[in-house]
Amino acid sequence: MLDTSDEWITTRTGIQQRRLAAPAQAVSDLAIAAARVALKRAGLDASEIDCYVVATVTPDYPFPATSAIVASGLGARDKAAFDMEIGCSGFVYGLSVVSALIRSGVHKRAMIIGADTLSKITDYTDRSTAILFGDGAGAVIVERAEEDSFLGGDFGTDGSRPEVLYLPAGGSRRPFDGDVLGDRSAFIKMQGRETFKFAVTKMVESAHVVLDQAELDVADIALLIPHQANKRIIDAAAKQLGIPPARVCINIRRYGNTSAASIPIALSEAYENALMKDGDVMMFVAFGAGLSWGAIAWRWSGVPPFNGRA
Ligand code: ACO
Repeated sequence: MLDTSDEWITTRTGIQQRRLAAPAQAVSDLAIAAARVALKRAGLDASEIDCYVVATVTPDYPFPATSAIVASGLGARDKAAFDMEIGCSGFVYGLSVVSALIRSGVHKRAMIIGADTLSKITDYTDRSTAILFGDGAGAVIVERAEEDSFLGGDFGTDGSRPEVLYLPAGGSRRPFDGDVLGDRSAFIKMQGRETFKFAVTKMVESAHVVLDQAELDVADIALLIPHQANKRIIDAAAKQLGIPPARVCINIRRYGNTSAASIPIALSEAYENALMKDGDVMMFVAFGAGLSWGAIAWRWSGVPPFNGRA
């Protein structure tokens, strides 16, 4: 399809495979599948979750919220549901919001799902973006507990240059018109170099802010789960932070960049492989469109067998 090579893609990004949704699959279909796995692992019924949050930039429709479709699709009735739209940072933003809702007493249990089908908005004639993206979903259930798992968080945006990474058409700035298909403005546009530099800088800065806030040292981080956008970005950030490769989750080789889904997918794999034990401190760190970034230090309390706490 493109003037590229496996060698170029692997060397520059670390990506070898991507999973794409079928034409008839919407993002809620992926989100529901992930949610079912999370519920099964937790031994919970969908009706026992008070609030459903879906972080996505590829909702089923501009409205209504995909989260409402997901909650109903799972058989949960009358539950709170809302979407978070902050690019690849969506999962960490969402995790902080559901944690706050639980801490404040509004909800007892919430599910945050990172789900995206970037293949639906990827220009497969543009080799600088087409090689990067894949589709996926990951879900996490968070529950009120005596001990807070949320140890610290840092979040930020710089919206002064949306064009660094954006979808030009389909919003109120440029509604769909007859020209949109012709000039391919219904597809992701990205300034790759700009994004790369921003990503490494902000991931490192944000992680340090969180470590200071939580009074933790780099050595306290048992597992770093970064947004999977490019292996070189992750390697550079981990190196600058001084976190050895053995403590960094990288699965981009198999999935490409799945946007808001990448961290919960990596977390799910870490869980399956029993990479963290009860009490371990994990760091989630992400960046994405906005531009946006965020990091959370999180104390894991849900090692297999799931104990229903995080
Ligand atoms: N195959 C072959 N050559 C390519 C390809 C390709 N797939 N893509 C670009 N090139 C060429 C370019 O045309 C350019 O050629 P030129 O020098 O003749 O002009 C050359 O390779 C270098 O291009 P760069 O864009 O400078 O390449 P770079 O090393 O920066 O790698 C990449 C590009 C992989 C996109 C990198 O910049 C990157 O990963 N950036 C960050 C992407 C990212 O993190 N995005 C986040 C998305 S998050 C979200 O919210 C969706």
